[in-house]
Amino acid sequence: MSEALFTEVDAYLEELFAPDDAVLDGVLAATREAGMPEIQVSPLQGRLLYLLAKMCGARRILEIGTLAGYSAIWLARALPENGRLITLEALSKHAEVAQRNMEAAGVADCVTILVGRALETLPSLGAEPFDLVFIDADKENYPAYLNWALRLTRSGSVIVIDNIVRHGEVLDAASADAVIQGTRACNAALAAETRVESTAVQVVGVKGHDGLAIARVR
Ligand code: SAH
Ligand code: DHB
Ligand code: MG
Repeated sequence: MSEALFTEVDAYLEELFAPDDAVLDGVLAATREAGMPEIQVSPLQGRLLYLLAKMCGARRILEIGTLAGYSAIWLARALPENGRLITLEALSKHAEVAQRNMEAAGVADCVTILVGRALETLPSLGAEPFDLVFIDADKENYPAYLNWALRLTRSGSVIVIDNIVRHGEVLDAASADAVIQGTRACNAALAAETRVESTAVQVVGVKGHDGLAIARVR
């Protein structure tokens, strides 16, 4: 298997399904200029999040892990009028860059960035359920984020979890890496969770080999 081939195929598919978008290109440039890690979802994955949000008619979306707002902009674009995206980010520098990017993308009105560690901001979100939750922050806390996602959703809501394969490192049950252990614990909890129906798929592309899990609340 060759990462170069994954990248080439992604370029081919991107040109067809997620063609150049000046706003999103600006977000990526701003991420780089700010010296932030370029670990946002790929364009095709962003497009997948957008479609999932539209398919489930999401009006209220929760994202855990904002970075510079790249995935948040894809999700916000799927919202109907009066829809709302709340995105949680630990680092104020990331949140500031994201806020500017949301403004440039014309979605700032429907997005709220909550700054702080997600486990500290999640309890403030209130009772109104979310229609879609995208989990994409510190993998060590993925099991806790899954529990919060279950508390904050309703029957029919969709939960999406990023980075559940990590170039296959997730196979290492004895891993000393808390990221891998968090990811594995979350995968196991999701699979065993009777309140949802779920699956997980591997993804290859411009970001190498990883995967995502998707669940629908019963
Ligand atoms: N969803 C983004 C990428 C998120 S990267 C996109 O695809 O565009 C992960 C982000 O989670 C980083 O910005 C990191 O600062 C943030 N993060 C890490 N630990 C966190 C925590 N405990 N609470 C909230 N955010 C956290
Ligand atoms: C990486 C990628 C991600 O999508 C993420 O959320 C965190 C880290 C990475 O490639 O290291
Ligand atoms: Mg991710």
